[in-house]
Amino acid sequence: MEKISKIGKDLTQAKHFLNDGKVIAIPTETVYGLAGNALDITAVAQIFSIKKRPTFDPLIVHTHSLKSVASFVTEIPEQAKLLAEAFWPGPLTLLLPKKDSIPDLVTSGLDRVAIRIPNHPLTLELLRSLDYPLAAPSANPFGYISPTTAQHVADQLGNDIDYVLDGGAAGIGVESTIIGWENNHPTVMRVGGLSIEDIERIIGPVNVQAVSSSNPAAPGMLKSHYAPTIPMHEGNINELILHHSSKKIAVLSFQKAYPGVYKNYILSPSGDVTEAAQHLFAAMRELDNTDADIILTEYVPAKGLGLAINDRLKRACAEN
Ligand code: TXA
Ligand code: MG
Repeated sequence: MEKISKIGKDLTQAKHFLNDGKVIAIPTETVYGLAGNALDITAVAQIFSIKKRPTFDPLIVHTHSLKSVASFVTEIPEQAKLLAEAFWPGPLTLLLPKKDSIPDLVTSGLDRVAIRIPNHPLTLELLRSLDYPLAAPSANPFGYISPTTAQHVADQLGNDIDYVLDGGAAGIGVESTIIGWENNHPTVMRVGGLSIEDIERIIGPVNVQAVSSSNPAAPGMLKSHYAPTIPMHEGNINELILHHSSKKIAVLSFQKAYPGVYKNYILSPSGDVTEAAQHLFAAMRELDNTDADIILTEYVPAKGLGLAINDRLKRACAEN
């Protein structure tokens, strides 16, 4: 029998399902997560299976305090501590050496676990009420666009999960920034909701890892990801429109309007990259749900959250 997804704000309900070993969707300030008990390999296995995610792609562990982080890792480097103090709870994920209590399935056999304290009041309250941390990837089918509302989750995974905890639209809109240490040097493995400028203000210069087609250190950073089903192309929008003039065109633009096309979503009429990040995934979904033949887009200014936006756009276009 088909399960009907329940969307609601009931923490008791959410806790009940999790304690029962089930997987539910939870809100965070970045994107919605598909969450289960990180210490229960049956729950973790269900996350991989519902998301259709390959088990070589590890999960982020979510918890509520620096004290609880300390119980899952063997060491917190000084720079990691500074970042945690400055930005947690927030859109920052730290790669830290794991203790045995974190199952190998969560980290895909890697020595480090990805950990973050999300900044969402409902989810923080939920995490504080549980005796275990939550493993949670973004709550989208593997390779598709990440969800920034409870409805996005229900639309795609509604039949596969028991509950979607509704915390409203995600305030930041792109996934957390992931940072780890290679020979004591900080390396950003995924640009995201915390800007490089903010990080460097606290710990000085960091390496930023470029997008690659396959990268064993962060297997989830696959080149083609976050992709709509309609082909998407990036470039100079006016030139692309001329080139594709025989097609039904949807445009995902940063600031400017393109009135002649079939559909146009403008990310931020005022040219604000933070606002654009907030709307990015909802915009990609909205255009993907039209009957356009093609989506044309452009990069945004590469400052602040603009780096994360351009990274996601690049991946969304990677197959084309
Ligand atoms: O904002 C976010 O980070 C959201 C919310 C739900 O917290 N989560 C999220 O999870 O984006 P996910 O699974 O979609 O992306 C996590 C990324 C993947 O690219 C994965 O490969 C990488 O983190 N990752 C996780 N654990 C890792 C580890 N131990 N070492 C290296 N990379 C890791
Ligand atoms: Mg994801």
